[in-house]
Amino acid sequence: MTQASGNPDVPDLGRRQFMNLLTFGAAAGTALGALYPVVKYFIPPSSGGAGGGVLAKDELGQDIPVSEFLSNHAVGDRVLAQGLKGDPTYIVVESSDSIADFGINAVCTHLGCVVPWNDAENKFICPCHGSQYNNEGKVVRGPAPLSLALAHANVNDDGKISLTPWTETDFRTGDKPWWS
Ligand code: FES
Repeated sequence: MTQASGNPDVPDLGRRQFMNLLTFGAAAGTALGALYPVVKYFIPPSSGGAGGGVLAKDELGQDIPVSEFLSNHAVGDRVLAQGLKGDPTYIVVESSDSIADFGINAVCTHLGCVVPWNDAENKFICPCHGSQYNNEGKVVRGPAPLSLALAHANVNDDGKISLTPWTETDFRTGDKPWWS
């Protein structure tokens, strides 16, 4: 028998449906929560460019407008930014109006110190055990076994510097990238 509206039983039925909905909602939420890492794995971060890229961040965690960046730095500078996976990455000032299309990961391939740029020597020189890398991050003196990793550096439609994974041949060595 259909219960008329206003019958005292109706709220009970309503409550039961409501509880069912809650249970379903909780289950769905749990399932979605479990799926989240899987889904996230397949979707590039929204803050980045295509192909799993990220917007480079400055020391304050802010996006980096390329126009500001170029006006604040000289040609030839290598400037640290936060890049892919949060790794410190050098952005290279190629000319007064452009950055190089590659960024250089600053993590030493020996034991992981952050390698400073030495302008006078035109090299990256690791303070930990003396490894040296040329101005493109190619290893020129050990004990570091490998060159510094590369990332593609680009400027997005908003004029901000972005970094995407470098999966192609390492142009400095002609080898496949060891980091991908
Ligand atoms: Fe750079 Fe050892 S960590 S030389």
